[in-house]
Amino acid sequence: MKYSRIVGIGSYLPEKVWRNDDLRALMDTSDEWIQQRTGIKQRHWVDQDSTEGTSDLALKAAVGALESAGVAKEELDLIVVATVSPDHEFPGTACFLQAKLGVSGIPALDVRQQCTGFLYAISIADQFIRTGTYKKVLVVGAEIHSRGLDKTTEGRDMSVLFGDGAGAVVMVATDDPNSSRVLSTHLHADGRFAKELWIPAPSNAGPGPRITEEHVRSGAIYGKMNGKSVFVHAAKRMPEAVNEALAANGFSLSDIDLFVFHQANLRINEMVAKQLGIPEEKVFNTIDRFANTTAATIPLGLHEALRVGKLKPGMLVATAAFGSGFTWGSALIRW
Ligand code: ACO
Repeated sequence: MKYSRIVGIGSYLPEKVWRNDDLRALMDTSDEWIQQRTGIKQRHWVDQDSTEGTSDLALKAAVGALESAGVAKEELDLIVVATVSPDHEFPGTACFLQAKLGVSGIPALDVRQQCTGFLYAISIADQFIRTGTYKKVLVVGAEIHSRGLDKTTEGRDMSVLFGDGAGAVVMVATDDPNSSRVLSTHLHADGRFAKELWIPAPSNAGPGPRITEEHVRSGAIYGKMNGKSVFVHAAKRMPEAVNEALAANGFSLSDIDLFVFHQANLRINEMVAKQLGIPEEKVFNTIDRFANTTAATIPLGLHEALRVGKLKPGMLVATAAFGSGFTWGSALIRW
């Protein structure tokens, strides 16, 4: 039997920090409104005049993960990048990252599963490793939301929520079931809710060309969200996914040392923790500082937890995510 082990982790956040009060220069909002509803105090956004792209953030996180793993880039067998904000519509961001890393020839794959993207990505890596197909896989979650937000009062319901950032892990094969490893991944989706959180344009579903002046004029190029629906479904699906992981591995909630959930909204995570009955000190949140970085929230959270000493070797870590699609899932990791 083969198992996959996370041997290295890295992350990157753009330098420029926008505090809630800074946003008032762009739109009619307030620190109080944002903090009360979401728990967000600030977010990192790339310099809008720079050419920094999602693959550049991914590269910085990937280099850090490779260094901490002690794995040379030439040893990699596969690159998986989860993102909803790719450098370009095609080819995938994994290809741009691959070129910047300088590791031609190995497969490079994009995952477009939104806030659950990182869990889908490590699940894919885990399956390739378990079947013996690949031994060393780089998995990245990276987003630049700031270039795709309507930063006016009209778009304030969405634009205050999102930040830029990237996180990466290196996963390698091990034969030892008792070593630190990914114990399980569980993935779900329900496409009936696809338009509850989505971006209408550019669109190949017509009518007409995929991008029109009307798309731009009407704001169809910006994300749309039914916030209440997202809240209700996330608060139900994330606890379900955690319980599914526990049952599959024969653990109970008290066996888990640390919960690192997707960072959509602090209120969602507080509701999830309440429903599960988890003590506050076991939940590690970063949303106050990093906001919602979609596919990057979980690797960013794991890396930050490690950095501040909340995550230690041997700990049992439960992660869960919910997002657009709707998609949701969980991963249980012996760190
Ligand atoms: N600043 C100030 N006022 C605002 C802002 C803002 N940024 N955004 C909206 N408002 C105003 C609205 O215009 C509205 O004003 P009105 O009453 O005069 O019409 C008022 O605040 C209330 O707006 P609602 O949209 O009803 O706000 P709500 O209380 O529902 O909170 C929120 C919005 C926080 C998004 C909520 O729906 C929620 O918690 N949703 C969960 C989903 C979520 O957090 N998603 C994050 C990303 S998705 C993901 O990662 C899965």
